[in-house]
Amino acid sequence: MPSSGTHSGEFMAAKGTKPDRYAVVGHPVDHSRSPLIHQLFARQTGENITYELIDASPEEFEVAVRGFAAAGGKGLNITSPHKQAAFEISTERGHAADRAGAVNTLTFLPGGAIRGDNTDGMGFILDLTANHEQDINAKRILVLGAGGATRGILAPLLEAEPAELVLANRTLKRAVAVVEQFQSSGKLTACRFTDLDDLAPFDLVVNATSAGTHGETPPFPPSCVGSVSFCYDLAYALKGTPFVAWARKHGARKAVQGWGMLVEQAAESYQIWRGMRPDTEHILAKLVF
Ligand code: ATR
Repeated sequence: MPSSGTHSGEFMAAKGTKPDRYAVVGHPVDHSRSPLIHQLFARQTGENITYELIDASPEEFEVAVRGFAAAGGKGLNITSPHKQAAFEISTERGHAADRAGAVNTLTFLPGGAIRGDNTDGMGFILDLTANHEQDINAKRILVLGAGGATRGILAPLLEAEPAELVLANRTLKRAVAVVEQFQSSGKLTACRFTDLDDLAPFDLVVNATSAGTHGETPPFPPSCVGSVSFCYDLAYALKGTPFVAWARKHGARKAVQGWGMLVEQAAESYQIWRGMRPDTEHILAKLVF
């Protein structure tokens, strides 16, 4: 059975009113900062919610989601490896979820409908352009990885009209499949890491592989980063990530972890659920020590 974690919290539990229940589902999920972020959002906005951690394996995922909804849950955040399964389980979807083929936010609607949204792309772009003040338009972009995380960020990156967007992956055929799905302008190409050797440093290098969660840095050629390169790791860790350390070692202009994306995508989810967007600047300052 899927187990509910111990990090659940009841926020703003006003006397006599039952809080609305939310949770994040993943496998593993105990590292997730989402309960803390939503706790801070709830305090800031004065909303009465609880937010739990649910660890469910792929086999347990559907039972966990339907069980949470049947028990009166209002919504779920979905993290690795369930974003495609969440897409399948949703009965109606937002535009970004349809484009990505992946869902990170489920909302249980009256009458039993399950709404699927994807706030990852918006969270990433907001962090990159507003918090870190980076331009995407007319820039050369390299995205490392071709899994669910890549699918979430690709459409908004392409919409910003970069000069080119190269997708490099360990398994070439996965990168080719993603390029075929998202190709619209001829600016998106697929390659292996070794093919990057011949290319000049990119303006923006995004690590969307999951290698760092196993403490690894894949064999990215150092030539793809240089003094022009802003490097962004979709992953984050209190002790820093291997990709950020690698990028700094090889002379990147700046290298950052995905803390801002985490908070911005959570704020987008919160807005879908509660109809109000928290002030993320203060939350981010509390989260990153
Ligand atoms: P996520 O939802 O986090 O994107 P995913 O869909 O399983 O998870 O995708 C993981 C991505 O990280 C893939 O691009 C994977 O490369 P492959 O397609 O070759 O499997 C990449 N990845 C994971 N571990 C890696 C490693 N040690 N070296 C290089 N790439 C790695």
